[in-house]
Amino acid sequence: MAQQEDVFKKIVSHCKEYGFVFPSSDIYDGLGAVYDYGQNGVELKNNIKQYWWQSMVLLHENIVGIDAAIFMHPTTWKASGHVDAFNDPLIDNRDSKKRYRADVLIEDQLGKYEDKIQKEIEKARKRFGDKFDEVQFRATNERVLENQAKFDNLHHRYQEAMNAAGGIDLEGLKQIILDEEIVCPISGTRNWTDVRQFNLMFKTEMGSTADGASTIYLRPETAQGIFVNYLNVQKTGRMKIPFGIAQIGKAFRNEIVARQFIFRMREFEQMEMQFFIQPGTELDWFAKWKETRMKWHQNLGFGAENYRFHDHDKLAHYANAATDIEFRMPFGFKEVEGIHSRTDFDLSQHAKYSGKKIEYFDPDRNESYTPYVIETSIGVDRMFLSIMCHSYEEQQLPDGQTRTVLHLPAALAPVKLAVFPLTKKDCMPEKAQEIINDLRFHFNCKYEEKDQIGKRYRRMDAIGCPYCVTVDQQTLEDNTVTLRDRDTMEQRRVNISDLRSIIEDKVSITSLLKKLL
Ligand code: GAP
Repeated sequence: MAQQEDVFKKIVSHCKEYGFVFPSSDIYDGLGAVYDYGQNGVELKNNIKQYWWQSMVLLHENIVGIDAAIFMHPTTWKASGHVDAFNDPLIDNRDSKKRYRADVLIEDQLGKYEDKIQKEIEKARKRFGDKFDEVQFRATNERVLENQAKFDNLHHRYQEAMNAAGGIDLEGLKQIILDEEIVCPISGTRNWTDVRQFNLMFKTEMGSTADGASTIYLRPETAQGIFVNYLNVQKTGRMKIPFGIAQIGKAFRNEIVARQFIFRMREFEQMEMQFFIQPGTELDWFAKWKETRMKWHQNLGFGAENYRFHDHDKLAHYANAATDIEFRMPFGFKEVEGIHSRTDFDLSQHAKYSGKKIEYFDPDRNESYTPYVIETSIGVDRMFLSIMCHSYEEQQLPDGQTRTVLHLPAALAPVKLAVFPLTKKDCMPEKAQEIINDLRFHFNCKYEEKDQIGKRYRRMDAIGCPYCVTVDQQTLEDNTVTLRDRDTMEQRRVNISDLRSIIEDKVSITSLLKKLL
């Protein structure tokens, strides 16, 4: 576990050192849980977005895109339930004056029991070697059984409090914190306030305060921009059910416990698609979208074993099925995408609050109904993080050296080809520039002439550039260059005129999309 934490720290520093992700307003020491994407980060992020957008809008004739405003009429958030129910349970420690999410304090406590069990298992594994039987050990070891019982008891109470009939049982959460003797990590005391609900939406004002400004919110999800445009798109696009509307855009949540780098941010980006369907068909479509989305993830080649579904047992009152796609991050399996069967809740709520009729006339069935919705919702930043975590490697080389390499899928890499003149003389720089001038229209190229070739390769490995080309003396004689592959480090001599055909297909988003069909 500690080793994984170290790897994660290294990935965070790597992101900064190589221009992927910087803390926001870095010169002022950053802003909590807000990050900026640097020169390489923005390219990777744009490629992720393109892969998603094209898989939705190009590959499905019945899915179209929109780009709705971040500011929306405030009633939107009343109708969607966010004003009344988009809350986190918070608790303060009176001595440190620090504020915590009560649910996170309890989840950390659950994690401690799990860690204790894991430690016992690791100790025994070392002691017994090949003969170790984990199942038997878990069933018989006293300390494991004791901690498992504590875990199960706490888990049961926690689930009950979080899923209480009238909403989260705040007193129940506080009682758990007291009973478990959870202390504030800063003051070390148990001097806790009551647990209170805290709304996660950022508020601001529109118009000048003198003439009666109205309170508006920064959207906490992009989905509502799609729901309020359902009629516009359906009518102007003459869309027939089933059809989908896709959108990529910023969302904002005043997260109290912002941890794990870009995993939980206050300003982040979502890629959401709402698929409008006939009522009664939702469970079939839910199953289909689960499969389609999992395929999209696994198509990146990170290994099926690193993904899993986490089906929700307890559902929000408007949902009749929900699952998360989780990815194995260095800090465990974590949600990257949610797939939800949202019934007709959102469209019905907007019909009620706006007074507009939001229905679909189905010509095949000769009847009108409020469509049901299957939503797929993925965070761009979490996707970015999962790709970075999986791609990062400190590789031991046969000659005893190490290199840090990002094995990014070539189609997502920020730079696809680096071109180096072996030396800065004999017209090699000019020849290298000529190659770039020819290829820059087809994919992202970079020119590098500083330092020895070995160092230049390392810099390109560190940003995940899949191909490097070196112009040398022989190039000037026969128009061939060495082409070096990032992952195998193999070099081969190729004709300059063949470079485009060798590289283009491997680095294009189209190549990824074709594998989805
Ligand atoms: N419209 C449904 C919705 O917003 P969600 O599960 O709250 O559902 C969907 O969010 C996805 O958005 C998550 O799976 C995650 O990838 C991303 N996400 C949510 N909160 C986030 C945060 N604070 N920072 C980064 N990504 C976040």
